[in-house]
Amino acid sequence: MRRSLVGSGLVLIAALGISSVVMVIAGGGHAVVVTAEILVPIGVLALLVAQAAASGWLGPTTLHRRFGLGLGLALGQLLAALVIGAAVMFVSDHDALATIGLLVFAALIAARAAQLLSSGVERDIRNVRDGLQAVQRGDRQARVTASSSTELSDLATAANRMIGTLQSEERQRDAADNARRQVIAAVSHDLRTPLTSLRLLTQALDDDLVDAATARRYVQTMGTNVQTLSVLIDDLFELSRLDAGDFAWSTEAVALSELVRDTITSMSPAADAKCVSLGASIAPDLAPARANPDKLQRVLCNLLQNAIHHTPADGSVLVSAQAAEDTMEIEVADTGAGIDAQDAQRVFEPFYRAGSDASRSEAGSGLGLAIARAIVEAHGGRIWLAEAPHGTRVRFTLPLATG
Ligand SMILES: Nc1ncnc2c1ncn2[C@@H]1O[C@H](COP(=O)(O)OP(=O)(O)OP(=O)(O)O)[C@@H](O)[C@H]1O
Ligand SMILES: [Mg+2]
Repeated sequence: MRRSLVGSGLVLIAALGISSVVMVIAGGGHAVVVTAEILVPIGVLALLVAQAAASGWLGPTTLHRRFGLGLGLALGQLLAALVIGAAVMFVSDHDALATIGLLVFAALIAARAAQLLSSGVERDIRNVRDGLQAVQRGDRQARVTASSSTELSDLATAANRMIGTLQSEERQRDAADNARRQVIAAVSHDLRTPLTSLRLLTQALDDDLVDAATARRYVQTMGTNVQTLSVLIDDLFELSRLDAGDFAWSTEAVALSELVRDTITSMSPAADAKCVSLGASIAPDLAPARANPDKLQRVLCNLLQNAIHHTPADGSVLVSAQAAEDTMEIEVADTGAGIDAQDAQRVFEPFYRAGSDASRSEAGSGLGLAIARAIVEAHGGRIWLAEAPHGTRVRFTLPLATG
């Protein structure tokens, strides 16, 4: 407020200075004094009224009225100066009347011009207000337009950008909510199935309804259920830690050929049971990768488990690896049924199961590939499904130990 008053005072002094110079040229020192006596009170009054309007002392007002007030102050000053000037000094009545006539004409034209100018601004402000109210009611497609001035069009652009951001944030939140709901449904299902079985088996054993041989079979099934539950819980725990970035493992130079050989040896019984041949094609002098051996083995196990599971008898599973520039590319390829294109984007999501596995009637939770992806990404690599004429090819990269 004080700064604004000081500004108005400075403008008054500057205006008086300029008009005094003009008066000196026109009529000498006396004219300057008379002019100052007329102009100063008029100018002070006009500035005080403008100051009051700007500070809201006259109450809330429309833009239209503000434009009108500005115009009225400008013309009112001219008129007042002219009338007083005619009365006290230099202007003849005839000249004053003629000038007032001109002034009235100019005032009407200027009023219309101000009305035209303010109507564009008011229309744009209404557009912005209506657009924002539509957004508040939940319409995320609403967009605002303003073209009467650069400032208002900048305001409209900023408002549209904000609505766009809001829309995409809501979409992301909805997708995350949806994914969370699906995960909860999948976890509940995968926990409920073995738990229901455990409950029924315990009940049967408790009621002494079964003979010794059946009881032994029941206990074995209970063991399998407990194993399923503990694998699921371990996987969930591992995935949530990886997701939270909570991994404190160390990395070292890993010779791929040895690690793959060990993993294949441990998976061979499962492959043999399905009559699937399991092999590797890795050059013995392949450069070492930088990785945590246990975690890398976990990735390979998950991929081999999937490959063996989805490959029919007499099929084959092959692990290969090659180094390119500063990364190592490892592939697990099988001759199984493959993964449909519509599932290919989603199989790395937690709990997503493709094809006939989607019914969740078979063993597995859909966490294997999600865990593999989290481990690979934590190593700074990436994992994807490569093009395959038949079967499935999962590829992932790791940094080279020398890189
Ligand atoms: N080699 C493959 N061939 C065909 N389908 C596959 C293959 N690997 C994965 N899939 C599909 O991708 C889905 C997700 O695999 P993922 O390993 O994450 O889960 P899962 O094997 O079903 O369960 P889990 O690994 O938790 O025991 C599988 O359900 C399966 O439908
Ligand atoms: Mg799996």
